[in-house]
Amino acid sequence: MRMNLMLVVVSALLMTSSVFAETCQAQPEVESAIQWSAKEIKILKSLWIKSLRPLPPDPSNAYADNPKAALLGEEIFSDTRFSANQKVACSNCHLPTYSFSDDLPLARGIGTTGRRSMPFIGLAYSRYFFWDGRKDSLWSQALGPPESKVEHGISRTTCATLIYKYYRAQYEEVFGPMPKINEKTCPTRAIPDPADPEGYAFWQAMSEKNQKKVNRIFVNMGKAIASFVRRIVPAPARFDHYVEAVMQNDLVGMNILSREEQLGLKLFIDSDRVKCINCHRGPLFTNGVFHNIGVAESNKSAYDRGRADGIKLMQDDEFNCLGEYSDAKPKDCKSLNLVPLELKETGEDMVGSFKTPSLRNVAARPPFMHDGSQATLAEVMEFYSASTPQTKDAELSKEEQHQIEAFMMTLNAPLRILPFTK
Ligand code: HEC
Ligand code: HEC
Repeated sequence: MRMNLMLVVVSALLMTSSVFAETCQAQPEVESAIQWSAKEIKILKSLWIKSLRPLPPDPSNAYADNPKAALLGEEIFSDTRFSANQKVACSNCHLPTYSFSDDLPLARGIGTTGRRSMPFIGLAYSRYFFWDGRKDSLWSQALGPPESKVEHGISRTTCATLIYKYYRAQYEEVFGPMPKINEKTCPTRAIPDPADPEGYAFWQAMSEKNQKKVNRIFVNMGKAIASFVRRIVPAPARFDHYVEAVMQNDLVGMNILSREEQLGLKLFIDSDRVKCINCHRGPLFTNGVFHNIGVAESNKSAYDRGRADGIKLMQDDEFNCLGEYSDAKPKDCKSLNLVPLELKETGEDMVGSFKTPSLRNVAARPPFMHDGSQATLAEVMEFYSASTPQTKDAELSKEEQHQIEAFMMTLNAPLRILPFTK
């Protein structure tokens, strides 16, 4: 299972580098290069992949950088036994070929989800997870899908039973001895979800001690998966080679972007008129927070309150950074501590706000937006042009829309799984 994943990533790498080589040789002339001011060069540098800081630690997960935990997590990630019909794994909706998202407007597991799947692009740098940010760590995020009726459709007790059965040695090597797990101490039907009265009755019949033992195994599973997911990072795209050339004033090297792509980039970083850079910023092309750009309003059939509900869910989550299963000190729980501040700072109504997506690899993973409502990048550009609450007055001509679209295509590159170094 692990080999397959690596192979896809490596073959994507080979494909892109041969395309890259052709592009390099194509045009020797230098007329296409456009001029950048010192201020613009500073912005270009901020978007450059080499401005990405080293992998930040996750104080809430003591196993975040444990190679054996990552290996265990990677195996569970694609293990379909962790589902009600034996057919669903995380990897069904998170495929390496789509930057670990998929190609559907709404993801499908046991049933159909209410939102589009999300890519894994430098998630270790994220503070909030899911479109509505209802989770504050990668490990607590990983505990959502298994118990969702439309995703894996199982429960934490089933997860604990499966780990005991199939992964016990690997688990114990990382997390220490497992308690005895059987149908009596851990009924597979039990789930702490009042919406499932039968499963809930089984859960309530368990002793608190057994409930906590199961929670602990479930949490450790999440921590193992997180230690795999957090190492998935972007690799340099054509755009990054261009920035390098600009910084070295290498006019020939700057030919790696066509004139159209460069003009699109110039529009993209224009913070006064076009404003993309205000939210899609930094080397991951995201500010990591939530905005209402009007997508939910335009899709009234499935109105989604987004961040407005996500805040409360995160604060009430038994698996959040301040909870008993977190390894962090309270002062390290930045996401929870920052919520009131961020609300005040943005001063906007959070209804209809969603997490700003990274734009790295964006062209390679349609459809777009939290509800998958926009099929192509051309549609996205039309949407932004037709004045959304945040971007109005952009009034982009068709030509300008094409230029920005062309620029976004220069952000494609295979993802890398960071190796462990001693
Ligand atoms: C049925 C398809 C499906 C399955 C199975 C699934 N996911 Fe997802 N994933 C989604 C969807 C849809 C979202 C966005 C959901 C939302 O915002 O409510 C998402 C969001 C995420 C995110 C958030 C990324 C971000 O930028 O915030 C991560 C991480 C993730 N999934 C990891 C996993 C892991 C780990 C598993 C297995 C334990 C898993 N997913 C199983 C569909 C799926
Ligand atoms: C106010 C912040 C903000 C601005 C300004 C902004 N965006 Fe976005 N962008 C977002 C958010 C938030 C989403 C997700 C919205 C949703 O799904 O409801 C998004 C989604 C996208 C997507 C879809 C990505 C995906 O994975 O689904 C693309 C492409 C995009 N933006 C490009 C642009 C471009 C180009 C501009 C400038 C014309 C721009 N954005 C301006 C915040 C912003």
